[in-house]
Amino acid sequence: MREEGVRDARILVVDDQEANVELLLSLLRREGYAHAVGVTDPREAVDRCRDLRPDLILLDLMMPHLDGFEVMARLRPMIPDDEYLPILVLTADVTLPTRQRALAAGAHDFLVKPSDATEVMLRIRNLLMTRVLHRELRRHNERLEAMVAARTRELEETHVELLERLAVAAECRDDATGQHTRRVGEHAAAIAAQVGLPAGWIETIRRAAPLHDVGKIGVPDAILLKPAGLTAAEFEVIKTHTTIGGRILAGGRYELLRTAEAVARHHHERWDGTGYPHGLRGEEIPLEARVVAVADAYDSMTHDRPYRKALRARDAWEILWGGAGTQWDASLVEALSAAMGAAPPTAVLARDGDRQRSH
Ligand SMILES: [Fe+2]
Repeated sequence: MREEGVRDARILVVDDQEANVELLLSLLRREGYAHAVGVTDPREAVDRCRDLRPDLILLDLMMPHLDGFEVMARLRPMIPDDEYLPILVLTADVTLPTRQRALAAGAHDFLVKPSDATEVMLRIRNLLMTRVLHRELRRHNERLEAMVAARTRELEETHVELLERLAVAAECRDDATGQHTRRVGEHAAAIAAQVGLPAGWIETIRRAAPLHDVGKIGVPDAILLKPAGLTAAEFEVIKTHTTIGGRILAGGRYELLRTAEAVARHHHERWDGTGYPHGLRGEEIPLEARVVAVADAYDSMTHDRPYRKALRARDAWEILWGGAGTQWDASLVEALSAAMGAAPPTAVLARDGDRQRSH
């Protein structure tokens, strides 16, 4: 396999002396290198290199128009950092400064002209073998990186899936199918996209929003599933689902969990500061929680819930627009409305100026 890699190598010979080029090419062919080409005009070297994509370059140093140093300077930008493209310099000048300069310019080895054919072939073979091994190592690294990326993806997916199951676990008492939590995620993502938030933010909210009511796990069934109106004391218990949810999700190392925590804790805050649990006002309320508050309200109103039958869409919109700027962030109600293709009611449009001034 490695031998094949060496034998199949493409070799470019650059020397202004045609006799030298011919000699090297015939030596190479005799040795079994079938893909060797030569140029005698160094000005063509860079173009030939681009076409041929050689595995090795044999380069004369002293040439008219463009010397070997200049050829190497022009080749350098074409060679990717992680590629090992050996350049074997052929020179009659064996002085130390020339050797140092050639090495600094990118040469990998030297041959002093005139050279012994056996030595030439051995050096060529060594350089090509190094290139083959370098390429193998790079492929191996790429495979390892791909494996690590796949494992990381798997871990992330497991992480996301566990959070999804947690959301379903929380909802299964009053939303057996888990469809409400999923839809809230979709609506939240639609709002985020509509207001132009970055793609990563949109994906995070899509996955975090379904966890908004995870704290219901800590609310007794007798209160959570009570069909009739709640007493004030019972409502106080219901309210704790925000802080319980916040506690369940607190201290997360990842963005997704931190977003979910903010959502769970603050999705019942109101824009005017009269919500719970902390009575935050306006932009004090984390954006992710404001987005989910609108998405949750819309979906709860437009679908049957244990405590209420679905409203007609236009009635739900009437309520949402009515609460824009008091209960909800008006710009986010507007965003959901635009995302869903729902026109704002005329009455609301008329007082749009006031609403805009409210935040
Ligand atoms: Fe809630």
